[in-house]
Amino acid sequence: MRRLMINETIIFTLCIVIVVVIAPCTEAAGKGLGNGLNVGFYSRSCPNVEKIVADIVSEANRQDPKLPGALIRLFSHDCFVKGCDASILLEATRSKEPVEKKAQGNDFIRGFELIDEIKARLEQECPQTVSCADILAFAAREAVFLAGLPRHKVPAGRRDSRTSRASDVGLPAPTTPFNDIIDFFTRKGITLDELVVLSGAHSIGVAHCSFFDYRLYNFNTSQPQDPALNSTYASDLSTKCPKQNTLPADEAKKTAVDFDPTTPLVLDNNFYVNLLQGKTLLQSDQIMVSDPRTSALVKTLASDSDAWSRRFAKAMIKMGRTNVLTRDEGEIRKNCRTFN
Ligand code: HEM
Repeated sequence: MRRLMINETIIFTLCIVIVVVIAPCTEAAGKGLGNGLNVGFYSRSCPNVEKIVADIVSEANRQDPKLPGALIRLFSHDCFVKGCDASILLEATRSKEPVEKKAQGNDFIRGFELIDEIKARLEQECPQTVSCADILAFAAREAVFLAGLPRHKVPAGRRDSRTSRASDVGLPAPTTPFNDIIDFFTRKGITLDELVVLSGAHSIGVAHCSFFDYRLYNFNTSQPQDPALNSTYASDLSTKCPKQNTLPADEAKKTAVDFDPTTPLVLDNNFYVNLLQGKTLLQSDQIMVSDPRTSALVKTLASDSDAWSRRFAKAMIKMGRTNVLTRDEGEIRKNCRTFN
């Protein structure tokens, strides 16, 4: 009898330790990984949400086949600054500081009007239920699908931030040293392999000449052109992006080139095939071929399209879990451009 009571006391104490100490710890540890998200989060509160997003994105894609690249970039730039909290959509905040979308790292970012259109439709269907952060995630998934990959399941339940600060946008640039790029993504919970896999998104969409034309004309003091560039590809790029001073400044700024010269609208592992041939726009991508930490994976992904697409979907889901707000954190905005 006495032994039974001692056992019960031990079990009771263990339970207290689990509930009071361990559970909050694991929750905190899981928070950065977005473990509060679930597939089918809106199945009761807004059951048609994913279909509505799919229809609107697919219709918009018919008008603008380059939309998928823009939506994937928009989602990634939301997730990699603070977290996937729709802070990139805010036009102003209470603090009146300049917002994320005005920061240099967000040059040429687009897709905002489409997110407004989706939000307006969802507010009619189920008012103040679906967060702008989840709309970004669903829209990016549709973009992946429309660009040719299977439709992956998107865990949802993100909430929207009330803040957005341009000074938080420390996104890497194409000229950022590779070690710093790796550190940036590691801090976000994205491994080097996942970065290589996600960079395959650069198989669709465009980059403006200003991000890479120095590789054609002004690489360094001894070599005007980046020797890693394929020479035929480089001369083709030079016709698309002539030296800055030969074009009116406005036009030079606006000119953009497809990332993938062969299948620019298809999200595929061609990105890695191009990388191996020196046919890539960004120096930050090209470096993955020569860096010993990434070169083997680039070769593997170039030769195995199924492996890449599986890993890409997984990495997108993981990216979408970055520092999300859940439950009673943040809010569900009524309008994605303004806090409530
Ligand atoms: C080192 C990391 C990265 C750097 C330096 C980088 C840089 C850039 C730059 C400079 C552009 C061109 C923007 C323009 O001129 O309009 C771009 C476009 C793009 N990026 Fe990245 N990126 C990185 C990682 C990623 C990741 C991880 C993803 C996806 C998950 C991504 C997805 C895209 C997409 C889809 C576009 C095309 C946008 C469009 O067509 O409008 N990027 N990126």
